[in-house]
Amino acid sequence: MTPPSGEQIRALPKVELHVHLEGTFRPERVAELATLVGEAPPRPVDQLFDVDNLADFLDTLDWVCGLVRDEPTAEQVAHDFAAYAHDQGILYAEVIVNPTHWSGLSTEELFSACAQGFDRAEADGLGDFRLLPSVLRQQTEQEARQLVAWIEGAALDRIVGLSIDGNEAAAGRTGPRFASAYAEAGRIGLGRTAHAGESSGAEGVRDAIELLGVSRIDHGVRCGEDPTALALVLEHDITLNVCLTSNCTLLYPNLDSHPIRDLADAGVRFTINTDDPETLGITLCGELQLAADHLGWDLGDLIAAQHRAIDAAFCSEVDKDALRRRLDQTVGT
Ligand code: ADE
Ligand code: ZN
Repeated sequence: MTPPSGEQIRALPKVELHVHLEGTFRPERVAELATLVGEAPPRPVDQLFDVDNLADFLDTLDWVCGLVRDEPTAEQVAHDFAAYAHDQGILYAEVIVNPTHWSGLSTEELFSACAQGFDRAEADGLGDFRLLPSVLRQQTEQEARQLVAWIEGAALDRIVGLSIDGNEAAAGRTGPRFASAYAEAGRIGLGRTAHAGESSGAEGVRDAIELLGVSRIDHGVRCGEDPTALALVLEHDITLNVCLTSNCTLLYPNLDSHPIRDLADAGVRFTINTDDPETLGITLCGELQLAADHLGWDLGDLIAAQHRAIDAAFCSEVDKDALRRRLDQTVGT
């Protein structure tokens, strides 16, 4: 087994399925926006995310996103992410955007600006980026249904799926609350993913599969705490979108306490992602290197992980085949 080099990881065409636009603001952009709107940061901008729990982390995301008060700025934030992603060799990403964090914009303004930023990025040759509008765990059934109805009415091509994020531990059990919105999302052809098995335990994973009908789970790493949840993940061939550093910041004390090796040994299908790259100070290349080191992966294993990400993506089969060809061509050269 030869460990992959940094150059090999950089050159690998990549797909990312679990990244929040809210977690992609560069500190310089945060400082610039804070000055523009006249808001003092709660801490120096380079220490804004020196937090060790999800609740404080999410509050800080609210503050950062609240600095965005017009569509051109949101368009630029989306384009900034695309420029970062291109630099990482990411060809395609599905980007979670939760409108509740963006208090200065309506849902319509936010997604149309993000779609425009991604359109401009694609025209600039930076890659293909799609959107996953996200429900906050604390929201009501009605609010979740409204978001799905809005998605249906807006008919934006870049929107390919529905997500839930936020603090499962603070919200309590919410699977039943969101079942009808997820059923509707399935009916209108959206892909379905949800955060679970992070701040919720294995019961959140069970609910996501049984009540929300997801094909992917963001995190999901606590499914092994209950054999029935693990069995469901395997039986339904669910892809877990795993974020190692995020989990080691907000959930586990270190990588050796992380269950990823056990999940891999159990045959769980998973991908490697960043979650919130700028706020965690990480990159996708860095996370792939970390996974390779920790799991003893060679280049072939990294390529297989990219294929799993393509398989689990919510774009069309035609788009997936094009991504597979790009991956095979680059790897073959
Ligand atoms: N929003 C941004 N990052 C998140 C995380 N790790 N868990 C839940 N919601 C999030
Ligand atoms: Zn996440």
